[in-house]
Amino acid sequence: MINITLRQLQVFEAVARHLSYTRAAEALHLSQPATSMQIKQLEEVAGIPLFEQFGKKIYLTEAGKRFHPYCQNIIQQLNDAETMLANLNGTHGKLTICVASTAGYFMPPLLAEFCKQYPNTQISLNVTNRETLLQLLANNEMDIAIMGRSPDGHDLEAVSFMENPLVVIAPISHPLAKERNIPMSRMAQETFLVRESGSGTRTAMEQFFAEHKITLTTGTEMSTNEAIKQAVQAGMGLSILSRHTIQLELDTHRLTVLDVENFPIQRHWYVIHRKGKHLTTVAQAFKEFVLENIRAESVFPS
Ligand code: PGA
Repeated sequence: MINITLRQLQVFEAVARHLSYTRAAEALHLSQPATSMQIKQLEEVAGIPLFEQFGKKIYLTEAGKRFHPYCQNIIQQLNDAETMLANLNGTHGKLTICVASTAGYFMPPLLAEFCKQYPNTQISLNVTNRETLLQLLANNEMDIAIMGRSPDGHDLEAVSFMENPLVVIAPISHPLAKERNIPMSRMAQETFLVRESGSGTRTAMEQFFAEHKITLTTGTEMSTNEAIKQAVQAGMGLSILSRHTIQLELDTHRLTVLDVENFPIQRHWYVIHRKGKHLTTVAQAFKEFVLENIRAESVFPS
């Protein structure tokens, strides 16, 4: 293994291109003796002359001619690698965001806003439930996550940015629809459609009723908020979902929120990443964007 240095390659490439020590030295901001010295050392390491001089002119030897394209390749590769790193550290990189399924209702419009500011960033949005999100975080498979309560016992950095009220939803024609301050105990007489286990909404709902010592009758389990909303509209039961998932149904009078004592269950949204994770420039910008721009008023205007 011969010990050619990068500096020697750069100097060789410049001298070979200009066929002049003086012009190569100028281009490299080196003195002419320093330039000649680098070539001399390179030739010593190579064990063969790379340039020859006739009169005032220098020429590449056969070895120099053959060596030159390798040199150009190496320098090109290095430049490409540098550009790639600079891009990663700039705004051309890729940003992988994973959000809890419920956050899928407010993230896309906000992402649209973010994309306008960072048009060169390639964004991948993964919408999944809380349990899968935690796995992805543990495997370092994302830059940033948006989810409910930061889990205990994980090495995560979590900042809360918005409230996430969970409400009792019912079809518009439900007998309790017009009642005020419905006692929690009354909920025990209803059937509740629930999200799949692993869902943050489901866990929060179970904890809340357990704390209030109320046993709920649970009906069909469904893995999406959409399916639950359709089933509640169709009269299969009540449910508890984030207020952020039902704006359209409230606007179009397909669902109503029951006024139940102690509701809403007040959760929060967090922007989360692994502690000590190196955030790319764009991931850091996204985190700041979320913390500065997402407000309850913009997500569900009253
Ligand atoms: P979910 O998550 O969509 O899995 O219910 C919401 C949350 O984390 O609060």
